[in-house]
Amino acid sequence: MSIPSLKGKHILIGVTAGIAAYKIPHLVRLLVKEQASVKVIMTEDAEAFVTPLTLSVLCKEKVYTAFQSQEHEWHSHVALAQWADAFVIAPATANTLAKMSHGICDNLLLATYLSAKCPVFFAPAMDLDMYVHSTTKNNIALLQSFGNHLIPCEFGELASGLIGEGRMAEPERIVAQLAQFFFPKKALLKGKKLLITAGPTYEMIDPVRFVGNFSSGKMGVALANTAALMGAEVTLILGPTAPHFIENTVKVCRVVSAQQMYEAAQEAFAHTDIAILAAAVADYKPMVQAPQKIKKKTDQLTLELTKTQDILASLGAQKDKQLLIGFALETENELENAKGKLTRKHLDAIVLNSLNDKGAGFSVDTNQVTFITREDKVVPIPLKTKTEIATDILTLIHDELL
Ligand code: CTP
Repeated sequence: MSIPSLKGKHILIGVTAGIAAYKIPHLVRLLVKEQASVKVIMTEDAEAFVTPLTLSVLCKEKVYTAFQSQEHEWHSHVALAQWADAFVIAPATANTLAKMSHGICDNLLLATYLSAKCPVFFAPAMDLDMYVHSTTKNNIALLQSFGNHLIPCEFGELASGLIGEGRMAEPERIVAQLAQFFFPKKALLKGKKLLITAGPTYEMIDPVRFVGNFSSGKMGVALANTAALMGAEVTLILGPTAPHFIENTVKVCRVVSAQQMYEAAQEAFAHTDIAILAAAVADYKPMVQAPQKIKKKTDQLTLELTKTQDILASLGAQKDKQLLIGFALETENELENAKGKLTRKHLDAIVLNSLNDKGAGFSVDTNQVTFITREDKVVPIPLKTKTEIATDILTLIHDELL
């Protein structure tokens, strides 16, 4: 899939003081090659890692480090924010993430972030232990819930010598994510009505306990947001998940149980052109839900479970002109099992998610899938961010099925 150009886009880069700042000259070069106009803001400490002169030569612009230059020239954070079509903070250190998430603006970069109305992307970079610290995780989640776009860290060797997550995404990946963001606006799905299910379902045992699973809903939400940017009218039926940023044109229907998801999907399906069922629906629910909290009276407790409605199969049985796409989460005999579901549930295509693939599956921001059509066309999609995977899946639906 070719990466569309960023020609004419105004990209403002914010560089903070992390060793990954050494990659920013390359990022600027790539953006300039894509014919974007680039300006750079740096924190003062970032100058220890990469010089303003290098960046200035590459983007052919003045580089901004403080509210006031040595020549007593005033640099307006508001003007910089207004100039930008996208603000990319890379590398984003733990310190800057913490300040951004709490509204602290004690330098030009942070004041510009608070003034920015354009989409903001941030590419964290830090050592493994800082990255996995709950504070950092919370700050990243908070920034995402404000609508900022995470450019996830990559796995590998870190400057400290440790191996793990925390490396800033490679400049090529940052450029690809920006291009993917601007590209979907090309209205590939204009006028189409999409129904998407996402997240887990919770089946109540008693008022405080449930049967559930680890699904985060990230893949389905990425599909909903990307489809909305492609011009589709999207209804997202979302199970219980942590807060997500959801484009404001997406109609969101929050549900808890498989039965509620089934009813919401049934109601929407007749007015749907394309249904993509990405939810991890519980296959079984307790036979009875105890009206009060079950007390710990016995050494053993047996729960009797009964099957939930298979939402995808029920839509497959009644589908008329709709396109129906399912997901298959497999741990063994992946292709064979996925193809079995495709036929049994009368689907037009199925997206195979293998839990055996590194970087794929629940909670993570990346995924690796295989798209299989009813005509037995098998398209592997390599490891990418869930937003990029969503773009690829929707483009394949457009190219192969519509
Ligand atoms: N699905 C559904 N309703 C259910 C169970 C699954 O709509 N009650 C949908 C999922 O959203 C997904 C597809 O069916 O699109 C396949 O789900 P998966 O969990 O992979 O398989 P199951 O059909 O549940 O079969 P199994 O658990 O035996 O693999």
